[in-house]
Amino acid sequence: MLQTHGRRVDHLRLSVTDRCGLRCVYCMPFGEPPHAPREEILSFEEMATVVRRLHDEYGLTRVRITGGEPLVRPQLHRLIAQLDRIGLEEISMTTNGQVLARSMDALREAGLSRLNISLDSLDPDRYRRTTGGDLTRTLEGIEAADRSGLRPLKINTVVLRGENEEEIEDLTSWALERGYEIRFLELMAIGCVQDVHANLFVPTREVRERLGRSFALEPLEGEPGAPARIWSAKRDGVEGTVGFISPETEPFCTSCRRLRLTAKGKFLGCIMHDDGPDIRPALRAPGGFDPDAFDAAVRQAVGSKPIDRVYVSWGHMMSIGG
Ligand code: 5AD
Ligand code: SF4
Repeated sequence: MLQTHGRRVDHLRLSVTDRCGLRCVYCMPFGEPPHAPREEILSFEEMATVVRRLHDEYGLTRVRITGGEPLVRPQLHRLIAQLDRIGLEEISMTTNGQVLARSMDALREAGLSRLNISLDSLDPDRYRRTTGGDLTRTLEGIEAADRSGLRPLKINTVVLRGENEEEIEDLTSWALERGYEIRFLELMAIGCVQDVHANLFVPTREVRERLGRSFALEPLEGEPGAPARIWSAKRDGVEGTVGFISPETEPFCTSCRRLRLTAKGKFLGCIMHDDGPDIRPALRAPGGFDPDAFDAAVRQAVGSKPIDRVYVSWGHMMSIGG
């Protein structure tokens, strides 16, 4: 079992692409960073090799597929089918939902266990202004995920000053009425978002206070190591779970169980790291897979996990995977 500073490291966030069809203001405020050339991106077979070894030798239990936008990668269900054979407890995915509806059945049949879908607004104009995308398509994706029966279905909302902060109650009602868990994320000062961060940041305390004026909120016991602090919320006979993810004001670094793998095959010990050990030499060694080089990269990445929080990063969320 991988361990560092007394915590287990048994969850992997697997970024399958650094591309995305959207342009969220908090992810790419100045446009899209350059893409990695295709040959630098790991193949599904290479990703499955990494996951299998982390599971078999290091006790990995969960994988979350991220991007960029994971569904930009064609035939993603094939990767999920390969991961499904490894024997993990859970394979989940974070998506913007824009093209989810058409692949939902294939994803579920391949073995996907859970979905988090990003939804920053229920207003089409604001959704487009914030993300560059089409709200209707994401809502269709959410409906398809709902029909597929995967639970819990989680909605991620990054709260932005002067924008969707006024929709906090509406988004909560909308989610709870449908039985979804909504999580409000604090804007992270990562990469180029740092320049606009001060203008857009809303602290969780403010979101919770605002929600507490119209919903009855009660704290719930969360899962150890999970970044969200969860609360039960109740209003007019509708009840459900609301989460708050507060990397800026209530950091959860000391209990973080995650390792990250970028689409280019770099292990990262932390979302705030923009570089880490490269796994490609181990995967593409002339004599075939090189377990010693692999193990050295894993140890280096786990050893790089900070004890406490890191404040500044110039990495791109697009390649790190949120
Ligand atoms: N701060 C907080 N959350 C972010 N995401 C992307 N960039 C940021 C940021 N700067 C979120 C997206 C999505 C997930 C992949 O990461 O909204 O829910
Ligand atoms: Fe795309 Fe996600 Fe970044 Fe938005 S936050 S631009 S959906 S990768």
